[in-house]
Amino acid sequence: MTIEFAVIGGTGLTQIEGLEVIHREVVHTPYGEPSGPITHGMIEGKRIAFLARHGYTHNIPPHKINYRANLWALNSLGIKKVVAVAAVGGITSEMEPTRLVIPDQLVDYTYGRAHTYFEEGLTHVTHIDFSWPYCADMRNALLAAAKCAGLDVVPHGTYAVTQGPRLETAAEIARLERDGCDIVGMTAMPEASLARELDLCYASCSVVANWAAGKSDEEITMDDIQQNLLVGMANARALLRGLLC
Ligand code: HPA
Repeated sequence: MTIEFAVIGGTGLTQIEGLEVIHREVVHTPYGEPSGPITHGMIEGKRIAFLARHGYTHNIPPHKINYRANLWALNSLGIKKVVAVAAVGGITSEMEPTRLVIPDQLVDYTYGRAHTYFEEGLTHVTHIDFSWPYCADMRNALLAAAKCAGLDVVPHGTYAVTQGPRLETAAEIARLERDGCDIVGMTAMPEASLARELDLCYASCSVVANWAAGKSDEEITMDDIQQNLLVGMANARALLRGLLC
């Protein structure tokens, strides 16, 4: 049975409710170990694969994730489509906590991450087209899934990818807003560009966990983030089931 798609789960999504687990597969890659074994399972009668980006016990911070191994492992299993679920902060007014966003653009502010497969043993230099970082087919599938599941999602947005693990200063968020960014998270890069290098059809379901720094009078607390993610990730799971409707 072919695997319909893989889900890379972020903070608040270390497992998928309703997934009948078939087995867990340890995959070794030329780039080292992925964040954990790949979980193979059935949902709504279809095969999917799941990987917890930060590890199944949520112990790998964004800048320490082996993005190359994660994407390589999924690709080596013949998976062609990937949905990346990620917690983000909301910058612009539409992006309020608990909302789901299907971003269509990103700006990369990360540094020092192993970010390409095209650097050693090359016969020629390769530059991928990354004008539109998210796969249109997968984005459309997510938008159709939202409709099918009766979920309200923001159908566009620019994701600012910061280094973390600290949250941003208010001045940094003001700068990201001037740069045209709507949401901010720490994991979309190099994940999205590595997926493109492997020719995987990759899109993001971003879940707004908090107002970004300086966007509300309240302090940003882990408790509030977790509360918002409980609601947001339940919607993200419903969206994933919608992909199979
Ligand atoms: N900034 C960066 N990453 C995040 C945030 C944020 O405010 N919230 C959740 N992930």
